[in-house]
Amino acid sequence: MAAEENSPSAGAQGRSAEAPPPLHVAVVMDGNGRWAKRRGLPRSLGHRAGVEALKRTVSAAPDLNIRWLTVFGFSTENWSRPAAEVAELMALPKRYFESDIARLEREGVRVRVIGRREGLSPELVKLVEDAQARTAHNDRFFLNIAFNYGGQADIADAARRFAEDVAAGRARPEELTEQLFASHLATADSPAPDVIIRPSGEQRLSNFLLWEAAYAELVFQDVLWPDYGAEHLKAALQVFAGRDRRYGAVVADDVLAAG
Ligand code: FPP
Repeated sequence: MAAEENSPSAGAQGRSAEAPPPLHVAVVMDGNGRWAKRRGLPRSLGHRAGVEALKRTVSAAPDLNIRWLTVFGFSTENWSRPAAEVAELMALPKRYFESDIARLEREGVRVRVIGRREGLSPELVKLVEDAQARTAHNDRFFLNIAFNYGGQADIADAARRFAEDVAAGRARPEELTEQLFASHLATADSPAPDVIIRPSGEQRLSNFLLWEAAYAELVFQDVLWPDYGAEHLKAALQVFAGRDRRYGAVVADDVLAAG
C-alpha cells in the first residue's frame, strides 16, 4: 500500500488526493423588493442593496472553488414592471461597474453580459461592451451577468442563428447535435452550471438557463438576496456537496446490488 501511495500513478488512483474540479454556480438574485418592503423602503433601495450582495458574493466565490458565476440581473419579462422600476434596474450595471470594474479587472475577473442588446439604451450597451473589453484578457474567474436575458429567448435566438447558417449553406440540418446547438447559446463559453441557487424562498427557475440547467443541482435558500453573503454561499455549496449527481446513469454499486 505504502509503495503504491508513493508510485507515480498514486495521484490518479487515489481520488481523495485530487483537487475537486472548479464549479460553475448560477444565482437567481431574488428578494430585493421584499427586503425593501420589510424596511418600509422603496424597491429601488432593495435593488441597490442587491448590488452590494452581488459584490460580496463575487469576492467570496473564488475561495469556495467557484470559477464561473452567472447571475440573473434582469429578465426579458422584467420589462413589464413599472417604468420607474425598470429605469432603476437599467441603472444597476452602471452603479456596479463604476464602483467595481477596476477591481474586477485587477483581480483577473472576466466579465460578460449575456442577453439581448435590443431594448438597452446605446449608453448601456457601450458601458457593457467597455466592461467586457476591459476584462477580456482575464481568465482567473468568469462573471456572467444575465441582463435582458431569458432562457426561452436565448434558445429561440440560438435556433435562429443555426437556421441562418443552414440558409447560408454554412451548416446542414443533420449536423445539429446538442453540443452544436449549445455553441449558439449566450453561455457557449462557460461549462454548464453545476448548481443553481435561488434565495428568497421561491422555488422555480423563472426562465433562467433553461437549456443549461439540464443536470444542475437546484438549491433554494430562505434568505432575501440583499442579505446574501459568503456564509449563505458556503451553506449552498454544502447542500450541493451532499447531492448524488448521476446524470441519468446508475453507479457501479447499484448495478452489482441489482445483479
Ligand atoms: C428580483 O427581485 C431581482 C431583480 C429583478 C434585480 C436583480 C438585480 C440585482 C440583485 C442587482 C445586481 C444587478 C446588476 C446588473 C449589477 P425582486 O425585485 O423581484 O424581489 P421581490 O420578489 O422580493 O419583489
